[in-house]
Amino acid sequence: MPADPPAVPGTRPTRALSGIQPTGRFHWGNYFGAIRQYIDLQPPVQAQRSADEAYYFIADLHALTTVRDPARLRGLVHDAAVDLVALGLDPERAVLFVQSDVPEVTELTWLLMTVCPMGLLERCHAYKDKKTRGLPADAGLFTYPVLMAADILAYDATVVPVGEDQVQHIEVCRDLAGTFNHLYGDVFTLPKPRLVEAAAKVPGTDGQKMSKSYENTIEVFEEPAAQKKKIMRITTDSRPMEHPKDPDSDHLFQLFSLVATADERTRMSELYRRGGFGYGEVKQALVEAANRFFADARARRVAIEEDRGRIEAILAAGAAKARAKAREVLDRARRACGLERSGAARSGPGRQT
Ligand code: TRP
Repeated sequence: MPADPPAVPGTRPTRALSGIQPTGRFHWGNYFGAIRQYIDLQPPVQAQRSADEAYYFIADLHALTTVRDPARLRGLVHDAAVDLVALGLDPERAVLFVQSDVPEVTELTWLLMTVCPMGLLERCHAYKDKKTRGLPADAGLFTYPVLMAADILAYDATVVPVGEDQVQHIEVCRDLAGTFNHLYGDVFTLPKPRLVEAAAKVPGTDGQKMSKSYENTIEVFEEPAAQKKKIMRITTDSRPMEHPKDPDSDHLFQLFSLVATADERTRMSELYRRGGFGYGEVKQALVEAANRFFADARARRVAIEEDRGRIEAILAAGAAKARAKAREVLDRARRACGLERSGAARSGPGRQT
């Protein structure tokens, strides 16, 4: 019984799910390229009659393949949770939890591993890229897509909003779910990827795609003074100020567009087309628009941090909800492949229902 009962005959409720790696503080590329769109997928509070749901988790097990400093990892997980709530992830409308708080997922990873051909993982880009660059890869990186498949299947997710780079992993997930279902019966719900607007549309301070590895990021919750400094140093072309410029091909304008109002955007693009302005003015306008755009989120962030224990309570409630769902799916999978013996105690330690 993998699928939820339809809320309206013929339709199935949507359960959106995505994981966010806590490998650094969020930058504009993360926010505009992904997080904002996840937040938009939260079902409205009023939609009590609809059974649509959204599950978002902080992928700390995946982060272990790159972050190997325990204090730093703890800090990044905490900051990611606070940042997400400050940015509008609403624990009343979405289930927010930490990946490793649901150990059922790692057990499910093993079950999926037993039906996963090596060749499937050898083709996956994270591992392949490392290998072609001659870098050592560990089994964690190699089997990363299987853990990701378990993340998705454990909650009967129907829709997985992800960036382009993760689509291959959703295909692996569908592949493994299909194989398992073929062998053992209808256990898993096959998810569909939903491509979020390309993060490539968010340029970094040097005009390339914004990415931590290019060191060209603007962080969402950076100190305003530091952020201003960064913005004032954004690279610009050296054509004389009098020349008209095409706003759409200018990364400074693209950054401004992300945080400006529609009116401001129109006025600025007119300035560009007319010429006779300085990039300094645009940068100043960008600093101000950015401050205004993120002002509420910054204030919420401060309030959450002041409210001791609040974020831990949100994560604990999220984990309890997520675990209950994962337990149900894992039991289904265990039963299907012959691990559940009749009469075996269902009430031993660690068993939650
Ligand atoms: N691998 C994803 C990334 O790096 C994060 C992730 C982990 C994820 N598990 C997931 C995304 C499950 C979607 C669904 O961005």
